[in-house]
Amino acid sequence: MKILGLETTCDETSVGIVQDGKKVLSNVVSTSADLHKKYGGIVPEVAAREQVKLMVPVIDESLRLARQKICEVDAISVAYGPGLIGSLLVGVEAAKTLAVILDKPLIAVNHLVGHVYANWLTVDSSQLMLMSKKSSVNRELKTVNLPEFPLVALIVSGGHTDLILMREFGDFKLLGSTRDDATGEVFDKVARVLGLGYPGGPAVEHLARQFTVHGSQSTVKLPRPMINDESFDFSFSGLKTAVVNLVNRSSSIVNRKQVAHEFQNAIVDVLVKKTFRAAKKHQVKSIVAGGGVAANSELRRRMSEAGQKLGVDVFFPSKGLSVDNGAMIAAAAFFEKNFVDPLKLQADPGLHF
Ligand code: KG4
Ligand code: ZN
Repeated sequence: MKILGLETTCDETSVGIVQDGKKVLSNVVSTSADLHKKYGGIVPEVAAREQVKLMVPVIDESLRLARQKICEVDAISVAYGPGLIGSLLVGVEAAKTLAVILDKPLIAVNHLVGHVYANWLTVDSSQLMLMSKKSSVNRELKTVNLPEFPLVALIVSGGHTDLILMREFGDFKLLGSTRDDATGEVFDKVARVLGLGYPGGPAVEHLARQFTVHGSQSTVKLPRPMINDESFDFSFSGLKTAVVNLVNRSSSIVNRKQVAHEFQNAIVDVLVKKTFRAAKKHQVKSIVAGGGVAANSELRRRMSEAGQKLGVDVFFPSKGLSVDNGAMIAAAAFFEKNFVDPLKLQADPGLHF
């Protein structure tokens, strides 16, 4: 089953075409991030206007790369929330129109659920065979390992931080969420304070890495909020304030690399500790991560290390599939099959679990 997935919840306009929830035939992502840089964060009006401009060209390009005609896809899917209402409306109305005109089924997808299913996306198996022919190191790469249930999912994005227990496809139990700021949001704010651009996550990661390279010991100490709290909730606003105070109120010039390094460590410490406590409590077979912050190399390294210790498989989508993309929406659509009436679907900016 070939599904076309539309993702327009925020500042990315993305369309992916996925076969049977796994094989990515194409995944085109266009972002308006550059336009928001000078404001240090997303301007919803600007993001929505760019969605309108990019929607049709991105659909066309995705079909071209997948060598598909629009009439050849079996269903249309769309992320209908959570997100910015102006941005969401563009994808939702485009998907409804396509479904009605082409007389194809329409599948509604929760954007957050899409981040989880990004972990089922694999490269084309014929590509894997090609790789294995080229290199003896890759010869083992014949079967693709997929997450097994029960699993714990950590969603860390610009708008959300959620820990979820998943016992089977479509069965999501929210274990905990952030009580204030989302992980990506804090990365973006800290980046602004440190004079870095938007989006902040990759910039903070880059700066933090420069500190590690020099091998110095960190003398800056930041809090790890709620790290030993019994609940699976998070709170990052105190950490954000601590960084702001450190940078703005410090009498001497702070080492920005050191602050970035310690801040990233603080976030990663909390995320790893809570995720693994949930994994142990629910005796899961796998842990999956998703959302833009899941592209962070330090988080990936530490989660994988902890997974090896506990004997639990840890999955991350490729970095490109961790951030917002249409392929993950098409994958989620395949596994969830939440068919909806195209004339009734409405964008839902506050959608959660
Ligand atoms: O999932 P996503 O693409 O969009 C939302 O659904 O919000 O996440 C975007 C967030 C931004 O806050 C961005 O700064 C953060 O993900 N991000 C990162 C990294 N790459 C993106 N945070 C930390 N390290 C990264 N490498
Ligand atoms: Zn997202």
